[in-house]
Amino acid sequence: MNKRHLFLTIAIAAVHSIVYGQQKPPDTVAGIPVNYKEDKVGTYILPDPLTLNNGKKVTSADMWVKKRRPEIFKMYQEIQFGKAPGKPADMKFNVFDKGTPVFNGTAIRKQVTVYFTKDTSDHKMDVLIYLPANAPKPVPLLLDISFVPNSLSVADSGVKKGMMWSRDGKKVPATQTAFRKFDVEKFISNGIGVALVYYGDIEPDFAGGLPYGIRSQYLGGKEKPAPDEWGAIAAWAWGLSRAMDYFETDKDINAKKIAVTGASRLGKTALWTGAQDQRFAMVIASISGEGGAALSRRNYGETIGHITDPTRYLYQFATNYHDYSNRIDQLPMDAHMLVSLIAPRPLLLQTGNTDFWSDPKGEYLSAQAAEPVYKLFGKAGPGSHEFPGPGDTSLLNPLGYYMHEGGHAVLPTDLDVFVTFIKQYLLPN
Ligand code: GCU
Repeated sequence: MNKRHLFLTIAIAAVHSIVYGQQKPPDTVAGIPVNYKEDKVGTYILPDPLTLNNGKKVTSADMWVKKRRPEIFKMYQEIQFGKAPGKPADMKFNVFDKGTPVFNGTAIRKQVTVYFTKDTSDHKMDVLIYLPANAPKPVPLLLDISFVPNSLSVADSGVKKGMMWSRDGKKVPATQTAFRKFDVEKFISNGIGVALVYYGDIEPDFAGGLPYGIRSQYLGGKEKPAPDEWGAIAAWAWGLSRAMDYFETDKDINAKKIAVTGASRLGKTALWTGAQDQRFAMVIASISGEGGAALSRRNYGETIGHITDPTRYLYQFATNYHDYSNRIDQLPMDAHMLVSLIAPRPLLLQTGNTDFWSDPKGEYLSAQAAEPVYKLFGKAGPGSHEFPGPGDTSLLNPLGYYMHEGGHAVLPTDLDVFVTFIKQYLLPN
């Protein structure tokens, strides 16, 4: 293993085990204290998703769609994730694996390279697709954005070997990591397709990564994006929309029945993808935490101050977001409004009961506070159900919530819940 890559792998593993749970969660991060005590959370007032900026009440689904949703969307775009460009004019697809039987003939594998720019040597994303061989076509599909290249995400030696980023902006061949393989067959056996993309194919995930990813192609002479322009999360979300552009061209895939999923920073990405691109029919956001589905005004675990500290993850956001670190009460939105942008489409928030840093209860309260928006469409959320215990599957409503027993992870048992959720809302085909 190359030294730089080794560093990266160990660093990711260390961050994951230290920050999240297996060990004692940190008391201070980036010099800012972290609260884990319910009695120290303090009081807060959430902005009302159903009151327009001019003070008028939203009284119908139509008013939500035409007036309020665009207002909230704009807040997220300009303050938190940043504006992204549209579909690139020079985009091209190369389907280099047109359909290979795999997993004992139960699935068909396709592989596609999406070229984002005219120059095909760089800025390209591989989409790895598995479709159930025997299901009637076109099939619904779960699109997963992952931390490792596709060749490491699945147990399939026929997958094109991917490249990973090193901290000095070089792409190095992907080698084995500690990440769990994605259990594609669990979905295939239930008639659901799976597609995977590697987030690094779109934009690198480190503070100095700007010159190397897709965002660099749109700077137009600027040194960095403006304070309301895209951070890395919006770039990853943009890449997922480009995968959707491909799905729309593939007659074996039902592009109207695509669920998008990701974990952690990629759970935040899944949420923003669904908010920004309403072609996605469903969102499954795992352990998305701060900047994702967890309420920011609730001072528990990570806060905006922690996440946007320039030594940590500011590059993932519009830099405007950082300005709210010490004046959270002035933020015109909170996480329940990000959740509300997915309405009326099914959304599952998956958390872990010992993932204190990500504040699983803050995600639950966020779902409750977003429910009035779903209700406009006649769809249920968690209602007045009390904060559920781990493993409770009684809240798989269109605005659904599920918390496993354990920390910051997507567990094999979570995938069973994903299958149930997808079957309930996207099947029959
Ligand atoms: C950091 C960050 C979290 C994020 C997580 C991850 O710990 O503080 O907000 O969700 O990384 O992406 O694993």
